[in-house]
Amino acid sequence: MSGPGLFIVLEGPEGSGKSTLQTPLADRMRACGVDPVVVREPGGTRAGEIARDALLDPAHPVSPLAELFLFLAARAELVSTVIAPALAAGRVVLSDRFVLSTDAYQMAGRGIPPEVVKPANRAAAGGLEPDLTLILDLPPEVGRARQVAAGKRLDRLDAESMELHRRVMAHYLAVQGDRVRHLDGCLPPDRLLQAAWAEIATLDPGRFAPGQG
Ligand SMILES: Nc1ncnc2c1ncn2[C@@H]1O[C@H](COP(=O)(O)OP(=O)(O)OP(=O)(O)O)[C@@H](O)[C@H]1O
Ligand SMILES: [Mg+2]
Repeated sequence: MSGPGLFIVLEGPEGSGKSTLQTPLADRMRACGVDPVVVREPGGTRAGEIARDALLDPAHPVSPLAELFLFLAARAELVSTVIAPALAAGRVVLSDRFVLSTDAYQMAGRGIPPEVVKPANRAAAGGLEPDLTLILDLPPEVGRARQVAAGKRLDRLDAESMELHRRVMAHYLAVQGDRVRHLDGCLPPDRLLQAAWAEIATLDPGRFAPGQG
């Protein structure tokens, strides 16, 4: 018998450390005998990967509304074919980005009105809401400097103006909620991992006790 599923999301601006954090978090879950379903947005399905290529290729501009709906198409497919079935089976899902990214980038960043973004975003998420969203707070200049230092080829959204990235960051900073926690993205990776794990372990101490596996 499986217990209830658990949906955990990592959010934050470019270069804030989401992907870096996702791997050791998944490892810690495995050390507790929990095998998480690890996903990233956009992507994770055939349609989602095609949308990802169209969205992130710096050589090809995409208009703001097309960008919104490509992200949402990728999300709708990922939710219906991967995330919702996994949660229904009692699995833990650990996602790199989810609905908050659309609010931050397409609504706050691009300026698409909330009355367009919010209902479409909810529909694409299939009514799913994360049990926990960890937001990594980091000034955009620091994230950009990290990407440059790492030699990352900036994708179409990375390469957007600092003004857009500041609006994105401001949106993330303002997000509050019972199921939202802000973490200091300036922490070194091991301390960030500790802080993130403390939040996850608190969420479900029974499931995330070490040595369960
Ligand atoms: N806590 C940290 N402290 C310092 N550098 C970090 C930290 N976490 C990640 N980095 C470095 O910063 C860069 C960006 O990290 P990462 O790719 O994990 O960010 P991201 O949030 O996934 O970015 P993106 O939104 O572009 O996918 C990488 O070079 C990574 O090694
Ligand atoms: Mg990443």
